[in-house]
Amino acid sequence: MTRHLITSALPYVNGYKHLGNLVGCLLPADVFARFCRQQGHETLFICATDDHGTPAELGAIKEGEAPATYVAKWHDLQENIYTRFGLSFDWFGGTSRAPNHALTQHLARKLKDNGLIETRTETMLFSKADDRFLPDRYVEGTCPKCGFAKARGDQCDGCGSVLNPTDLINPYSSISGSKELELRDSQHLYLLQSKLVDKLRSWIDTQKHWPKLSTSIAYKWLDEGLQDRGITRDMKWGVPVPTDTFGDAFANKVFYVWFDAPIGYIAATEEWANAQGYKTPADGVPLSSPARRWWYGDEAKDVTYTEFMGKDNVYFHTLSFPATLIGSNEPWTMVNTLKSYSWLTYYGGKFSTSMGVGVFTDTAIELLPADYWRYYLLARAPEGDDSEFRWTDMQTVVNKDLADVLGNFVNRTLTFTAKHFGNTIPPMGELTEAEDQLAEAIAARVTKLTAHMANADMRKSVEVLRDIWTLGNEYLATQEPWKVIKTDKDRAATILATAIALIPLYATLAAPIIPFTASTLMALFPSLETPKTAHPQPDATLPATLHTPWSWPTADDIPDLLGFPPTGTFSVPPPLFAKLTDEQIADWEARFGNKKV
Ligand code: 2FM
Ligand code: ZN
Repeated sequence: MTRHLITSALPYVNGYKHLGNLVGCLLPADVFARFCRQQGHETLFICATDDHGTPAELGAIKEGEAPATYVAKWHDLQENIYTRFGLSFDWFGGTSRAPNHALTQHLARKLKDNGLIETRTETMLFSKADDRFLPDRYVEGTCPKCGFAKARGDQCDGCGSVLNPTDLINPYSSISGSKELELRDSQHLYLLQSKLVDKLRSWIDTQKHWPKLSTSIAYKWLDEGLQDRGITRDMKWGVPVPTDTFGDAFANKVFYVWFDAPIGYIAATEEWANAQGYKTPADGVPLSSPARRWWYGDEAKDVTYTEFMGKDNVYFHTLSFPATLIGSNEPWTMVNTLKSYSWLTYYGGKFSTSMGVGVFTDTAIELLPADYWRYYLLARAPEGDDSEFRWTDMQTVVNKDLADVLGNFVNRTLTFTAKHFGNTIPPMGELTEAEDQLAEAIAARVTKLTAHMANADMRKSVEVLRDIWTLGNEYLATQEPWKVIKTDKDRAATILATAIALIPLYATLAAPIIPFTASTLMALFPSLETPKTAHPQPDATLPATLHTPWSWPTADDIPDLLGFPPTGTFSVPPPLFAKLTDEQIADWEARFGNKKV
C-alpha cells in the first residue's frame, strides 16, 4: 500500500470559481483521491483557499470589509459549493490562518540561514492619496507595448505582456484612481533562485512521472536562466515578514502571495492535525506529528505526493516552491507527480467574472446535480490541449452516456426483474458462454480503467467507464430476457441476476467520477453493507474481495463479482438521470451566452 498525499491548486479566495477552475485541478484531484481510497491506500487530500495577495485585498476593499472578514466569508462560501460538488477534501483550510504564518516564517528564516535570501532596494510607485506603495494590480495605466488603456501593473490583458508597475504609461492607483504617484525606494527580500539552479535541475531530471507539459515548462524556465525572485510586498494583508530576523525596515511588509500560497499545502495539513487535537510545536519546525507523517523527514519517506493545477501554476510548483523547500535544507516531501491542465474555454473564449461570461460553480450547482457536471467536465478535461464548454455538447454527453447508457441499463434491468420476480433478486442458475464472455470483456476494461485512474487520466477513464456500462446494455440486447422469460424462466433469472450483479460493480467503478449516483446505486441493495455516503471509503478491516463496500476490484475479481450478485431484496429507483431538454439548453444559452466573447 502506498500513502498518497494529494493536493489541488488553492483557489483564490475572492469569489466563486468558474467551471474551468473546477475541472483544471479540484475535480481531477478529487477523482484521484477517491480512487486511491477505494484501492485501500492511505490517502490525504488537502486543499485551502489562497487568501492573500492583491485579489483578496482588492476584493475586500470592493466589498467594504476588513480582509480577514472578507476572507472568512468567501472561504465558507467556496467550501459549501465544493461540498455540493462532492469534493472529498480531508481538509479545506486557508492560507491566512496561523499554521501558514508559522510555516512561511519558519521557511523564510531557514532560507536566510542558508544564505539564500538577500535584501535589495527597489524603486516603486507610491500613492500619496492612498498613503501606500502600489504593487502589482494596485496600479493601472496604459500598456507600453500595445497601448491598451487598462493594463495592470503585473500584466496587460490587451497583449498578455508581463509588466512591472513602473512600465505603465499614465499610471493611476486602482484603489483611489489617484494619479498623484511618485517613485520611492523600498527594501525587499529576494530569494536567490539562481543559486539553486543546479539542485533544481538535478531534482527535475529524476522526476520520471511528470507529464510532458509540466516537464517542458520547467526546463524552459531553467534553460532561460532562473531569475532571483522578490518574495515580499508593501502590503498589510499577508504573512508578516518577521522583523527579528529581517530587521525593522520590514515592519510593514508581508510575504508575496506566491511565496506563502504553496506552503499552504503543508499548513492546511497542520490545520487538519490541529483539528484532531494535536498542538503545533512552539519551537523548531512548526508541524505536529500527524502532519509530519506526510510532509517531513523519515516518517514521510513512503509518501507519494501528487499535485493538480492549471498550466499557469506549473512554474510555481516545479521551480519556485521546490526552491523554497530545497533551499531550506530540510527533509520536506517533494512532489512526485504533477498533473497540469490547459484551459476549459467557454465557446472558445475566456470565462470571465467581470464580463459575466460563462457559468460559475455557484450557478452551475443550482441548475443540475453535481454528477452531471462532474461527468461532463471530466469527459472534456483539458488534458494537453484546451477544450471547449458548450451547452449542446453537455446535452449530448449527459443524455447519451448517463441517461441512455447507464441510467437506462439500471432502470430496465430492475423494472423488468421486479415485474417478473418481485423485488427479490432472482436465483443465479447455470452460467453460459455469454456470461463468461461478459466477465472477460469487463475484466479487460477494468484493467485499463485501473491504469488510467492510477495515472489520473480523466478523459480515458471516462471513456473506458462508458464502455463498461455499454457492455451491460449489449449483454441484455443479445440475451433478450424479455423473450427468454416466456419460455425459460430459470435462464431469464440468470440473465437478470447477472445484470443486477453489474449494478454494484458499476457503482464501485463509477464512484470516483459520479459519487452521488454511485451511492444511490449501492443503496438499492440492502444486503450490501455499504456505507451509504457520497465519500466512499473502504472499510480497511475487510478483505478487498466480494462486495467489500467500494473496494476497487482487480480483473481477477470480476468473474466472482458477476457470479455472485447481491442477495435479498432490491428497490427500483426513479430514472437515475433526467435528459437535458432542448428548451433547457436554449434557456441556458440565452442566459449565459453561446458564442465566443
Ligand atoms: O492560480 C491560482 O488560482 C492560485 N491561487 C493557485 C495557488 S496554488 C498553491 F500554490 F497555493
Ligand atoms: Zn499590452
